Amino acid sequence: MRTHLCGLVDEALIDRSVTLCGWVDTRRDHGGVIFIDLRDHEGLVQVVVDPDNAEAFRTASEVGYEWCLRVIGRVRRRVSANERVRTGTVEVLADRIEVLNPARDLPFVLHETTNEDLKLKYRYLDLRRPEMQRAMRLRTRLVAALRRHLDALGFQDIETPILTRATPEGARDYLVPSRVHPGEFYALPQSPQLFKQLLMVAGFDRYYQVARCFRDEDLRADRQPEFTQLDIEFAFVDERAVQDTVETMIRAVFEEVAETTLPAPFPRMSYTEAMRRYGSDKPDLRIPLELVDVADLVRDAGFKVFADAAADPDGRVAALRVPGGASLTRKQIDELGAHAAKYGAKGLAWIRVDDRASGREGLNSPIAKFLDDAVLETLLARTAAETGDLVLFGAGPWKTVCDFMGALRLKLGRERGLVENAWKPLWVVDFPMFEHDAEAGRYVALHHPFTAPKVDDVADLKANARIAVSRGYDMVLNGNEIGGGSIRIHRPEMQAAVFELLGIGAEEARAKFGFLLEALKFGAPPHGGIAFGIDRIAALMAGTESIRDVIAFPKTTSAQDLMTAAPSSVPTAQLAELHVAVVEREEHRD
Ligand code: AMO
Ligand code: AMP
Repeated sequence: MRTHLCGLVDEALIDRSVTLCGWVDTRRDHGGVIFIDLRDHEGLVQVVVDPDNAEAFRTASEVGYEWCLRVIGRVRRRVSANERVRTGTVEVLADRIEVLNPARDLPFVLHETTNEDLKLKYRYLDLRRPEMQRAMRLRTRLVAALRRHLDALGFQDIETPILTRATPEGARDYLVPSRVHPGEFYALPQSPQLFKQLLMVAGFDRYYQVARCFRDEDLRADRQPEFTQLDIEFAFVDERAVQDTVETMIRAVFEEVAETTLPAPFPRMSYTEAMRRYGSDKPDLRIPLELVDVADLVRDAGFKVFADAAADPDGRVAALRVPGGASLTRKQIDELGAHAAKYGAKGLAWIRVDDRASGREGLNSPIAKFLDDAVLETLLARTAAETGDLVLFGAGPWKTVCDFMGALRLKLGRERGLVENAWKPLWVVDFPMFEHDAEAGRYVALHHPFTAPKVDDVADLKANARIAVSRGYDMVLNGNEIGGGSIRIHRPEMQAAVFELLGIGAEEARAKFGFLLEALKFGAPPHGGIAFGIDRIAALMAGTESIRDVIAFPKTTSAQDLMTAAPSSVPTAQLAELHVAVVEREEHRD
C-alpha cells in the first residue's frame, strides 16, 4: 500500500515518487494551495496539493482532521524549511490522494483536550498522539532490552497460569467463577510468586517472565488493577547474587533505552535508616531534606503531645527543617498541616526562625512557650536551622509520624524546587519480617509470607518475631519502588512457622498452600528472586507522572475501562450457568 513512512521522508528521496499512508494532522488552505500534514507512527510530512491537479485538489478540499489517506506524490525540497520537524526540509507534491476512510464527528481534538475520561473512552484516538506513540515505543524497547539481557544470561522464559489459586501479595484477589465446579472460583494471580518458586523446585535454575498481575487494591498514579511485572527467580543464590545480577541489568537497560548512566553501585540503605531519615521505605534521594529525631529533647517538655510521643517506645518526635521556609504564610503552613492530616497527623507544630542570633526573641512558634531555652537552642542546632528557615515538628505513633513527615518532605521538596535533576537509585534492605497490625492483633508480612528471615532457626524466629529482619529487598528509583524481592524460605518447617506467626493456622496453611509446603519437602533448593514493575520503569523513562501513560488500555482509578465499559453486568442466564447470584447492595456505588 505504501512505499515509505511519512515521518521518514528525507532529502535522499528528492525527485522520487513515494506512496504514503497516514492521518491528516492539519490541513491549511493557502491562497489556492492546500497543505496537509500527513502523520503516521514515525512522524509527519507536509503534502502540497496544487490546484492544477484538479482531482487531487477536490479531494484535498474535502478531507478533514484525522481522515485516513493514501497519498502518491513526488518529494521536493521545501522553499522555507521547518526546523521543528524531522522532515522539515522536504515536502511531497501530491499526484493522487485517496481517502481510505473519513473521520467524522471526532469526540475531541487530539492535541487539545484535557478531559481524561473522554481520552480514555476514545483511547485509540488518544494513542494516535505522537507523545503516546513515543511512550509505547519506549515500552517496547524496554521490554525487548530486558528480555535480551536475561536471555543472554540463560534465564528461561516460562509462562505460569492466569487461572489459579490466590497468591497473597497484600491486595484483594480478582475471582473467576468456575462453571464446571459450582461454587468454586479461580483467583487471578497477584504475582506468579508460588509458581516461580515451584519452577526452582523443578530444577529450572533461572526463570523470568513478563507477567501480568492482578490486584484489587486502592489505585493511584503508580498502581493499576492489572499491571506487568518482569518476574525473576534464581536457584542457589544469596541476596547479593540476585541484587548484583539485576542491578547490572537495570543499569544496562537504562543505558540502552533511556541513554542514562545510573550510578554504580546503587547505594544500600536499611529500612530503619530510610524511615528515620526520609520517613519512607522508598525515599526520593533527589530531595536533600531530612528528618531529624528530637524525642530525647522534648521528653520533659510541657507540651503533652510531644512528651507522650517521646515517652512511648513506639512513638516518634521528628523535625524537618525547611530552608527559607520562614517566607511561608500562615495559610501555607495550615495547608501543610492539612496535607499531613491526610497521612494521619493530629497536628503540625512549627518554629519560624526570624533571627537565629536573638534566641527565643527571634522565633515565632505556637510551641516555643512549652520549651525551655536550652531545649530550644539544641533543637535549632540539631536541625541546623538558620535565619529564614521554618522547622516543622511531628509527634505521635512511629509509623504515622514517618508517613506524614515523609509526605511533607516530598511535598515541600517538589513545591520549593528542591528536586535535583538526577537519577537516584538505591537498594532498601533489612526490612522487618513482620509488622504488628494493632487492629487485627496479629503480625502481617512486610513483603509476602514466603520471604526468608535472616535467622535460620525456627525457635529463634518464634522467640524474636517482633524484631526479626527479613532477607527481602526493594529497588527504589527517584522515590518509586520499581522492584521488590527476597530470598525465599526453602524449608517446610520454617514456612510453617512463618504461617503460624502470621496467624495462618495449620489447617488453613494446608488448604491454601499445601502444595507449596509439600514441594518444599522434596529437596527444594535455596532460591530467591525479584519482580520489577515494568509499567513504573517505563513511566520513569518516559518522564510521565502516571503509569497510565505507558499502558495502551489502562483503567481509571475506580478500576473501570471506559472504552469497553468494563466491568459490566452480565445476563442472568450466564450468571446461572456460573452458579453465581448477585446480591443487590443497598447503597449505590459512587
Ligand atoms: P511486589 O508486590 O513488590 O512483589 O511487586 C513487584 C513490583 O511490581 C510493581 N507493582 C505494581 N505496578 C503497578 N501497579 C500495581 N498495582 C503494582 N503492584 C506492584 C512494583 C513492585 O516493586 N512476588 C513479589 C516479587 C518477589 O518477591 O520476587 C511481588 O509481587 O514496581
Ligand atoms: P495546641 O496546643 O493543641 O494548639 O497545639 C500546639 C501546636 O502543636 C499546634 O501547632 C498543633 O498543630 C501542634 N500539634 C498538635 N498535635 C501535634 C502532633 N501530634 N504532632 C505535631 N504537632 C502537633
